[in-house]
Amino acid sequence: MPSAPQPVALARIAALATYAPARRLTNTDLQRMVDTSDEWIVKRTGIHERRIAADDEFTSDIALAAVRALVERTGPLDEVDLVIAATSTADYVFPSLAAQLQDAAGLTAGAFDVGAACAGFVHALNLATTLVSAKQARAILVVGAETMSKSVDYTDRSTCVLFGDGAGAALVVPGDETSYVEATSFGSDGASGKHLYRTAARNDINGVVDDTGLLRQAGSDVYKWAVRRIPEAIDALLTRAGVTPDQIDWFVPHSANMRIIEALCKTTTIPLERTLSSIAMYGNTSAASIPLALEPAVADGRVKRGDRILTIGFGGGLVYASSLFRW
Ligand code: ACO
Repeated sequence: MPSAPQPVALARIAALATYAPARRLTNTDLQRMVDTSDEWIVKRTGIHERRIAADDEFTSDIALAAVRALVERTGPLDEVDLVIAATSTADYVFPSLAAQLQDAAGLTAGAFDVGAACAGFVHALNLATTLVSAKQARAILVVGAETMSKSVDYTDRSTCVLFGDGAGAALVVPGDETSYVEATSFGSDGASGKHLYRTAARNDINGVVDDTGLLRQAGSDVYKWAVRRIPEAIDALLTRAGVTPDQIDWFVPHSANMRIIEALCKTTTIPLERTLSSIAMYGNTSAASIPLALEPAVADGRVKRGDRILTIGFGGGLVYASSLFRW
């Protein structure tokens, strides 16, 4: 039976499901598109392949497939009062992905998207657990879904090897004495936002004009930010919760790059063996990476009720959000 610390939110994830498009893009495929190699990609990123949506398959399609897979596990989502979707690759600026899902899934619920790029899923999760705990919703459907392939420049070898498509859906319900949230945090370093962007209504950023609307990244700047800032954020969260790294059962960081995950484990002293990632077979799927990492370990029984999970999302903004919770 879990002991202190006490819950900060009495809410839990009751069920989790994912979906990824059928089409695979391997490192060998990428070798034919840009000047790269399987060896370089695996060594620098840990990625072997990614899933890529079909031309007529959009974020709402793969998100809905994840929601349908969730319903197969949970039954009808009658108690869902709110849909929160995390994406930076929505079909439209508006209507939101969440509103599309509310309609397509036949729900009577509120709906909005969160814009926090790769950190979106944990931002949405923290909102959902807090609202359910405060009894402002009976249950909340949290979705992280991306078609990154529609925003990637496939002539830029430094970014196109990294990203892939996928979706995850979680049902957040009231917690109990075994399953609850112990601590959450949010952080932003807007001054570093210029290192990772997609232009939209405005085409200039940091003195650079980019009309393409495609993802641009200064990889080594983002890398350095992540390996410095994210361990600091984890340390602050654990200190606040009174939890030490050896008390974490499962660490689920955003799957940005295996080298970043290894560096986070080394600095925080959380063992790599207790870390779940989706990077090898899906690449960086932004807001979908955390459910894609967690779901298989729940499905095969590695993650058990009451296990202590630390998850942290980070990305465009640059922003991050974390949650320490009992499964
Ligand atoms: N294949 C072969 N060579 C490449 C490739 C490639 N796909 N991409 C870059 N290179 C070359 C560069 O041109 C450079 O060559 P040069 O030395 O002749 O100039 C060399 O490799 C080294 O380039 P760096 O950018 O310094 O390589 P680095 O070791 O930093 O790795 C990488 C690049 C993988 C992008 C790394 O910086 C990284 O992982 N950054 C973080 C990116 C990330 O995870 N972003 C997402 C986090 S937030 C979010 O999820 C949105």
